Amino acid sequence: MIPESGASQQVFIAPSELSSKAHIPNLETYKELYAKSVENPEEFWKGLAKEFYWEKQPTGQFLDYNFDVTKGKIYIEWMKGGITNICYNVLDRNVKEKKLGDKIAFYWEGNKPGTSLKVTYNELLQNVCKCANVLREQGVKKGDRVSIYMPMIVELVVAMLACARIGAVHSVVFAGFSADSLCDRIIDSHCSLLITADGFCRGDKQINLKQLADEALNKCKEKNFPVTKCIVVKHLWKTEPSSNDVCAEGPSPLKRICQNLQTPWNAAIDMWWHELMEDASDQCEPEWCDAEDDLFILYTSGSTGKPKGVVHSIGGYMIFTATTFKYVFDYHPDDVYWCTADIGWITGHSYITYGPLANAATSVLFEGLPIYPDESRMWQIIDKYKVSKFYTAPTAIRLLMKYGDEPVKRHSRKSLKILGTVGEPINPEAWLWYYRVVGEERCPIVDTFWQTETGGHVMTPLPGATPLKPGSATLPFFGVVPSILNESGEELEGEAEGYLVFKQPWPSIMRSVYGNHPRFEKTYFRKFPGYYVTGDGCKRDKDGYYWITGRVDDMLNVSGHLLSTAEVESALVEHRAVAEAAVVSHPHAVKGECLYCFVTLKEGRKFSKTLEEELRKQVREKISPIATPDFIQYAPALPKTRSGKIMRRVLRKIARNEKDLGDTSTLADPAVVDQLFTSRCQMFNV
Ligand code: WTA
Repeated sequence: MIPESGASQQVFIAPSELSSKAHIPNLETYKELYAKSVENPEEFWKGLAKEFYWEKQPTGQFLDYNFDVTKGKIYIEWMKGGITNICYNVLDRNVKEKKLGDKIAFYWEGNKPGTSLKVTYNELLQNVCKCANVLREQGVKKGDRVSIYMPMIVELVVAMLACARIGAVHSVVFAGFSADSLCDRIIDSHCSLLITADGFCRGDKQINLKQLADEALNKCKEKNFPVTKCIVVKHLWKTEPSSNDVCAEGPSPLKRICQNLQTPWNAAIDMWWHELMEDASDQCEPEWCDAEDDLFILYTSGSTGKPKGVVHSIGGYMIFTATTFKYVFDYHPDDVYWCTADIGWITGHSYITYGPLANAATSVLFEGLPIYPDESRMWQIIDKYKVSKFYTAPTAIRLLMKYGDEPVKRHSRKSLKILGTVGEPINPEAWLWYYRVVGEERCPIVDTFWQTETGGHVMTPLPGATPLKPGSATLPFFGVVPSILNESGEELEGEAEGYLVFKQPWPSIMRSVYGNHPRFEKTYFRKFPGYYVTGDGCKRDKDGYYWITGRVDDMLNVSGHLLSTAEVESALVEHRAVAEAAVVSHPHAVKGECLYCFVTLKEGRKFSKTLEEELRKQVREKISPIATPDFIQYAPALPKTRSGKIMRRVLRKIARNEKDLGDTSTLADPAVVDQLFTSRCQMFNV
């Protein structure tokens, strides 16, 4: 969002105390390195790749790619022929080469205050080795896919790294997704094994995750895709508040004492994690993999309604997440870093698991909610662990802002040095509150623009170097070459607005859509041949700063989570009463955007509160509670063009009660619009 005028046009500079110690201390250094990184990307990344352990150095062509669909298949290969293992690099290298085994890798902070754990690099390595041996024992081999459906617990990181250690491909499914969503993802990626947990709590609410996992596996079976192995972490445990942290002194998170809660069990499939782990050896030779072998699949919404399995490969992802983490958060060894994202999203993959561990960082891993048990929880955790780098989402900032400054000021936050945001454009008002109240005007804010597809930060300030403008993701990261195109695909120079694209690959760009390479080419490379198309709109100002303006496709961003309108529409029309549905985005004070749905009913069906509730439930169950519509409006008919295309532009205006609809000459039946304004009034009782 580009502010028109006022305080948010200000430029903010990092305190010299911070800049002078930063890896990139000023804009000139950034510009010099940036120029090198884009003029000779091979040399630039070769230097950084040397910091990692290679069983066999990448000696062949360092980068090979085709970005132009008109010239043949799209492919991107970095360091092909180089042999490595990412798990070895983020754990063994720290323990054995850097002698950092006793350093804390994670402070785990549970949902309820008073439940926490510490995990060192040694402990993490031992547990990952055990888990890797367990997976091998269960027949998981290099290249096999493993689904992971877990809450924010250390075992989730262990499971991911265990897969990586044996060359298996993990597919983490966010624990807030429904059984249907999990089933679709298991089948799409042909997973042979599922790792889950008995359950977890969000605030006071208990989620019986195993029950959802069972439903998903039953659905898989009905669809002729039986999964025969399911490993279950026992996590629901006694969390009576006590004066001391329950497990802080425990030997290992994996040995905590669990309350014996009833877990639905199918002895033919299910195995307890702790039982398998007990007998496993803590020594495990990594599987040495090609830099271009697959590391993981992570699903993201697609405009067809069917989620896309974004595939990332090992080598490029490793060096890019490690490098962005180091420079964007200006990481130093004494930092305590906290990213509040869920590992079920790309932010958690890149900036809780891989990036921080590759740098031997100490992180907070938080299971709970920002305002539970009260609205000062985040600030209390920051003080408890003396967090110096804090990374969260604009939606969380807006939520916390609602409670005013007092809950923030209740805690000192003096350890904080750098703040970050990700997931959606941040409005200058929220940016300024974050800067002034949370960071007390001494902490630069890194507004990081990136995507599941980009693997890591692509447009971002560097905290010691880049002057900040509230609401702008500022400038490209090393190796990233953005451009702004107009509708005809022409590159625009200087101040401009249009489609944000990238002209050449950086190491962690996605390699394919799992099982559907043509969809990868069509989604990202067909519209403007020769470019990677982000799907976001963007403005460049007179200083060359980039401002992301939001999605330009049928995608909407609810609380930083991308959803496609088609996905929600197809969940709605599966209801027996619904004939047709159209979903548009609507502004929301905390979530940024929310879902506004128009539904047309089948003959003889009546719209009612009960139906509305059924539809909400349907979307929650088919997709996830994140996708729950805020508004469902009865639509006697939908506005369509003469060729039958739904005019979402018109629906967006109706949802906002904006009477000026712009050009409606292509509208087949203008009477529909009046009917919709009338039914809108009925819905809001006005
Ligand atoms: C949006 C999340 C503006 C954008 C890492 C992008 C942002 C989509 C920002 C990707 C930001 C993410 N400013 N918009 N700093 N960060 N976005 O795949 O629309 O969940 O395309 O990855 O989020 O969402 P995804």
